[in-house]
Amino acid sequence: MRIISIGGGPAGLYFAILMKKADPAHEITVLERHRFEDTFGFGVVFSDATQENLAVADRPTHDAMVRAYHHWDDIEIHYNGTVLTSTGHGFSGLARQTLLGILGRRAAELGVDVRIGTEVTDLAPYLDADILLGADGFNSLVRQRWQEQFQPVTDWRPNRFVWLGTTRPFPAFTFYFKRDRHGLWRVHAYQYEPGQSTFIVEATEATWRAACLDRATEQQTLDFCEALFPEELQGHRLVANRSVWRNFGTLRNERWHHGKAVLVGDAAHTAHFSIGAGTKLAMEDAIALARALERERDVPAALGAYEAERRATVDSTQRAAQVSLQWFEDSERYMSLEPVQFAFNLLTRSLRITHDNLKVRDPAFVASVDRWFAEQASSQTGTPVPTSPPPPPLFTPFRLRDLLLVNRVVVSPMCQYSAEDGTPNDWHLVHLGSRAIGGAGLVFTEMTDVSREGRISPGCTGMYKPEHVPAWRRIVDFVHAHSDAKIGLQLGHAGRKAATRLAWEGMDEPLLQGSWPIMAASPIPYFPHSQVPREMNRGDMETVRADFVRATGMAVDAGFDLLEIHLAHGYLLASFISPLTNRRTDQYGGSPANRMRFPVEVLDAVRTVWPASQPLSVRISAADWAPGGIEPGDAVEVAKLLKAHGCDIVDVSAGQTVWDAKPVYGRQFQTPFADRVRHEAEIATMAVGNISSYTDANTILAAGRADLCVLARAHLWDPYWTRHAAQELGYTLPWPDPYETMNRYKPRFT
Ligand SMILES: Cc1cc2nc3c(=O)[nH]c(=O)nc-3n(C[C@H](O)[C@H](O)[C@H](O)COP(=O)(O)OP(=O)(O)OC[C@H]3O[C@@H](n4cnc5c(N)ncnc54)[C@H](O)[C@@H]3O)c2cc1C
Ligand SMILES: Cc1cc2nc3c(=O)[nH]c(=O)nc-3n(C[C@H](O)[C@H](O)[C@H](O)COP(=O)(O)O)c2cc1C
Repeated sequence: MRIISIGGGPAGLYFAILMKKADPAHEITVLERHRFEDTFGFGVVFSDATQENLAVADRPTHDAMVRAYHHWDDIEIHYNGTVLTSTGHGFSGLARQTLLGILGRRAAELGVDVRIGTEVTDLAPYLDADILLGADGFNSLVRQRWQEQFQPVTDWRPNRFVWLGTTRPFPAFTFYFKRDRHGLWRVHAYQYEPGQSTFIVEATEATWRAACLDRATEQQTLDFCEALFPEELQGHRLVANRSVWRNFGTLRNERWHHGKAVLVGDAAHTAHFSIGAGTKLAMEDAIALARALERERDVPAALGAYEAERRATVDSTQRAAQVSLQWFEDSERYMSLEPVQFAFNLLTRSLRITHDNLKVRDPAFVASVDRWFAEQASSQTGTPVPTSPPPPPLFTPFRLRDLLLVNRVVVSPMCQYSAEDGTPNDWHLVHLGSRAIGGAGLVFTEMTDVSREGRISPGCTGMYKPEHVPAWRRIVDFVHAHSDAKIGLQLGHAGRKAATRLAWEGMDEPLLQGSWPIMAASPIPYFPHSQVPREMNRGDMETVRADFVRATGMAVDAGFDLLEIHLAHGYLLASFISPLTNRRTDQYGGSPANRMRFPVEVLDAVRTVWPASQPLSVRISAADWAPGGIEPGDAVEVAKLLKAHGCDIVDVSAGQTVWDAKPVYGRQFQTPFADRVRHEAEIATMAVGNISSYTDANTILAAGRADLCVLARAHLWDPYWTRHAAQELGYTLPWPDPYETMNRYKPRFT
């Protein structure tokens, strides 16, 4: 087979090695414009986990790399005058030049024709190759040649960074967060060979411009950074190597192969340097492509198999890199955290490392986080919380006004569509009762409507007629009598999403029979075929506000511990907030303040009836996931207003405003919104959405991304979710008396 690699970086050279090893008869040429000693960048990093892959693929290359490695286990975080060290992380670094030297020699030894100093400007002479490898990095010529087929998209990120080197031998992977009069500077530094370290400086565009670095020469950049980091450099100099300030571009391609051309490494995808995966991904691509070609004789089929195999890993790495780079874009947000929480937050930023993983790597560090968290919980609640050993974060108490929750697990509101004329029945008793016995600290009722017309469906629960109070009281009393859980009522009005079918007969679909007139902020139907709501006039607003007030009084009579007002998911009050559903021209439409006017009127009215000793929460949609809709930054402003009007905690959900929204699902997909609201609006938050493991919950809480973790479907699957978490975490959760025997029972699930 005749193989041409455009580019002799890690991907091109490693692929050449692996193919030549697989079959010495392959004719392989690598065309590289630079001499290896002229290469950009300083060190490259590999985690211990990557090593095994490399060892299996080509032992001599691996062994030579191991001989050159500088290894370290620690991550040091310098922040607000403190240094926190976490160990057990297992990384190895070596100079990019050294790596290229190893790969170049190995390739030549195997008989690969490596042509250094060859700049390819025209691909025509190479089109008759059996494989044309696009290993030519981020600005790939091969990709440009077939860009209509590959369909590249680059997401240019706003932060500025510069790649520098220094002779200071950093003992650990080191992060600095340092302020000067221009703003906050982040440094990512690590030693990659004795006496040689990479030193990346990063800042927001505003900070970078304030320091006039937009006009700086390379020398001026060096001078500026040396003057900024004298203690950090400890007398060592910084060195440059094509060290210009850049924006990071995350590159994605719709396809990685076309005909005989195939992209690998940075030509196909990039991942932010903060997760150190660029070179690793490039070399793993080479492994996957070489293996696919060994398995499949037909080249297009092999290229397809390579792409199919690598996509999931690369997508997942890019997702992790995205969260990580955003963390560094938003670092200013976390600068008031306590050092131990800041460090935990930083280490768990990409969702790849959790409370559990970190406990395996560095038990002492996690114990110090848990101890600190327990102390905070103790002072926040005014109740003693043990600190040796401390409970896992999710089993610490939390106080809202006079309400004390025994732990941080919340059963999310979930419509059951099983009531008749709003009255909860035995189904609701068993549904909520069993979840309370299951150990959660707080159990929410489903969205319960303030009027008959405000129901989503004929099966929704209500708080609008006298019979509802004793029916709810029975459930509230059961929860109080038989569990440590508290119970919250979620009150809402469905607005333009009212008069729809039971979920299993067609979610949000209009009723075929027995419908009723509906109303909303503006006369816009949910689906094009939905009922058109009436635009609410002042009289309607007064009626709805009075309905909320009456329902709140009934909630007091029923004995609920917490009240949540539903301002999310496109229902009536939410329809005022989102510009997608509010087209009003009066004082209730237009500006954000106008759109919040009616929801705030309702909140104010409710707060006067709901006892001052009891907490009020509000569920919001922090993003509409649709053009022109609410964005997370808007949600911060909404939350500030809610806080000023007596809301104690924001339950941060998202979406469901418009039917054609494009949500970005994934693990903990809404938690970043809760995190942002918590820090920027300075109000307690609940995180919800695809939080399913206890380690996710512990991580969210310990990192300070939310105060409570809300789980919906996980609780449908397992009403005893909290008890299972306790069992797994070695924490003792008392059983109710009738189940007392369980205190001596050891469950076995496998
Ligand atoms: C400035 C900079 C510094 C970096 N530093 C580090 C670091 O310190 N650590 C780390 O882990 N990652 C670093 N990275 C990321 C890392 O380099 C890449 O993720 C990784 O090298 C990808 O390997 P690759 O083989 O796909 O591409 P590259 O390493 O980019 O290799 C592509 C090669 O193709 C050659 N080439 C391109 N076009 C042509 C052409 N037309 N003709 C001939 N040759 C051509 C280039 O000269 C280059 O050698 C850095 C990236 C940049 C941009
Ligand atoms: C069956 C079901 C009913 C729901 N009903 C409500 C509701 O009444 N009120 C509400 O705010 N959210 C409701 N939701 C949304 C959940 O409360 C939660 O926000 C969402 O399911 C994401 O959490 P999860 O990933 O843990 O399931 C419902 C979800 C489900 C699965």
